[in-house]
Amino acid sequence: MALSRKPLKGMRELFPEEKRVEDYIVGQLRKAGSAYGFETYEAPVLEPLDLFLAKSGRELAMDQSYNFTDKGGRNLIMRPELTPSTARMVAAAGELIFPVKWMSFPLCYRYENTQRGRAREFLQFNLDILGVDGLEAELEIFLVLQRIMDGFSAVPGQYAIRYSSRRLASGVLSKSGFTPLEMQKAFAVIDKKDKMPLEKWEKWLYEEIADSSKAETIMKFASCEGLNSSWLSKLMAEDPAYSELLKFSNMLDRAGVDSASFESGVVRGLDYYTGIVFEVMDTGGENRRSICGGGRYDDLVGMFSKQNVSGVGFGLGILTLKLFLQTYGLIPDDLARLHPADIFLAVCTDDQREFALNLAERLRDADISVEMDLSRRNLSKQFKIADRKAIRYVVVIGPDEVDSGYVTIRDMNTGERVKIDIPHIREALSMMGN
Ligand code: HAM
Repeated sequence: MALSRKPLKGMRELFPEEKRVEDYIVGQLRKAGSAYGFETYEAPVLEPLDLFLAKSGRELAMDQSYNFTDKGGRNLIMRPELTPSTARMVAAAGELIFPVKWMSFPLCYRYENTQRGRAREFLQFNLDILGVDGLEAELEIFLVLQRIMDGFSAVPGQYAIRYSSRRLASGVLSKSGFTPLEMQKAFAVIDKKDKMPLEKWEKWLYEEIADSSKAETIMKFASCEGLNSSWLSKLMAEDPAYSELLKFSNMLDRAGVDSASFESGVVRGLDYYTGIVFEVMDTGGENRRSICGGGRYDDLVGMFSKQNVSGVGFGLGILTLKLFLQTYGLIPDDLARLHPADIFLAVCTDDQREFALNLAERLRDADISVEMDLSRRNLSKQFKIADRKAIRYVVVIGPDEVDSGYVTIRDMNTGERVKIDIPHIREALSMMGN
């Protein structure tokens, strides 16, 4: 029996056309991070299970992960996210220049039900600032996010940056008599509000939270409209978490981050968040999931060392971002068809092969990417291959070219032909628009 041609459920398998789109997205993200001086780093894919049990939360570490015991009897996990590893690296590094501004593109693994925008193996973009206690870090992170979305020509209305604060949510709940355990449960319920139809969520809320007055509080909090909602401002007027949010809202306004707004229902699912939490939502109907999630985590590095270091950052799903961009037609049309080779070098007969091979190497030395016939096909087949691969320029090497040292560059898009001596091919290509 033939082996299955399908990869494991939820695992990534990107053919070159799809990978080209992903590379484009990754390039844009890297460019946005670099504009603020973020440096790239790498952490291991395989980690001790304890690292994630301790801080990410039991649901993610146990139920939603690939975890196993290795041959040495160690309990391991394929990382479901990067942040605990980042915190460990910062704690272990010793001499770092603060603030640390790091970005990374980790592959992450979560054992969950696969659906649109949810895979079991997925690429994330992580960007974190460590060692800044004030809101300036959050502001810079929001500026990066807005720059990313601007870079793709996305406009507010297609997406929204929504933020709230874990401290605000804890404050509201503790004023209403929630125990720490009930609070954890309440966060999980609030987190799901936008992920299911409202009626279903309300029914579920009253099932999960047995005390009806507490359920009522969750309902009021999760549905309050804006920071100035009278219920919220009355309850929390004196609370520092509330003043912090008012100040942050002001900072965002002054910095022109128009796409961001307060949304009480944002709590994010991870246990380590301690302050402001946020997400980027696709506000169109088709992709209901968040493109990006993040927040402040002030106690994570302290788990590994006596010296605590505060942190704030986000993880952005490349797959969810790609679906968003596709929905709004924000991926350049020709991307999937853009072949990396600039020139296809067609060879007339075997007599010219050595000459063509030398020329190809000289062009590659000059940073021109060249694909050459390797299969001794006839000329018309070589032209067909160049066309199917969408390589824009074709140069034929026949006896005349070998004798004269002149070649003709054919632009397959426009039909233009330029005859040029070999040392000037680069200039000719620039003039032809490459
Ligand atoms: P998260 O909210 O768990 O945060 O994930 C961040 C983003 O990763 C999500 O908004 C989503 O776009 C993407 N994502 C998550 N799970 C999947 C999946 N199964 N398939 C495809 N995409 C997915 C974190 O991971 C935090 N560590 C982020 C962070 C960094 N917080 C501070 N620094």
